[in-house]
Amino acid sequence: MKLKGKVALITGAGLGMGRATALLFSQEGAEVIINDLNKDDLETTLDMLEGNNNSSYIGDISESDIVKDMFKEIETKYHKIDIVVNNAGIGRFSGDGENGEIQEMEDVGWKGVMGVNLDGTFFVSREAVRLMLKKETKGSLINISSTSAFSGEGPLHYCTSKGALLSFTRALAVDLGSKGIRVNAICPGPTATRMLEGIPDEWVESMVSAIPLGRVGQPEEVAKTSLFLASEDSSFFTGQTLAANGGSFMI
Ligand SMILES: NC(=O)c1ccc[n+]([C@@H]2O[C@H](COP(=O)([O-])OP(=O)(O)OC[C@H]3O[C@@H](n4cnc5c(N)ncnc54)[C@H](O)[C@@H]3O)[C@@H](O)[C@H]2O)c1
Repeated sequence: MKLKGKVALITGAGLGMGRATALLFSQEGAEVIINDLNKDDLETTLDMLEGNNNSSYIGDISESDIVKDMFKEIETKYHKIDIVVNNAGIGRFSGDGENGEIQEMEDVGWKGVMGVNLDGTFFVSREAVRLMLKKETKGSLINISSTSAFSGEGPLHYCTSKGALLSFTRALAVDLGSKGIRVNAICPGPTATRMLEGIPDEWVESMVSAIPLGRVGQPEEVAKTSLFLASEDSSFFTGQTLAANGGSFMI
């Protein structure tokens, strides 16, 4: 029960790593708030959670006002937030061409991926930090980046957004250290979720052939890394990047 008494928000928890993280956190005693765009997926995740004081919130994290409303509800119901996993992310958006290459990319495609992966993380983190500071909570923020931030493999906007998340993590960790709020990032490698299903087979094969452990990751392996960063086990970690990637890129 590493998270007993803690309130945790996980964005993009309808499926994949977000769902696995919500499950693990609830098993570790946290009261869990899950967010996603998809109502049915969110309800399925909510039904799977342990405990009886969890909540779901349907909403697009790339919309600042929606995020503000979500935090108003969180404050009213839970009075605090201890842990945020900025997990919601997308790899493609309509209008970004067939392979996400610069010559094919429309403004809407670029802004769509940046809007979720980067703006969304900013909007959620800002509201979380406001609430943490108000309640003097020594919280933990965890940003799900990607090994693509280092390797450059993947659509241009995706790699760019995930790289920016690492700088965001470090700058925020410096700003918030004196308040006892820790900020860390995780770089998963290729992981068996719906997102991976959307990537062309030849990209996946090439990625797997370059993984020393010889396989893709499981969402539960990323969830365990988030648990470490959320719990007191990582009490002296901030501004760091942990790569749950089978060795595909050694940082
Ligand atoms: N799967 C991989 O191989 C891989 C590798 C590296 C990093 N990642 C990152 O891990 C995170 C989780 O990815 P996953 O593989 O579990 O993906 P997934 O597609 O299975 O799940 C992502 C969830 O986020 C939700 N979401 C998307 N846009 C949203 C928005 N605007 N607001 C709220 N929710 C939104 C989706 O509905 C979905 O349920 C993402 O940030 C992704 O970039 C994934």
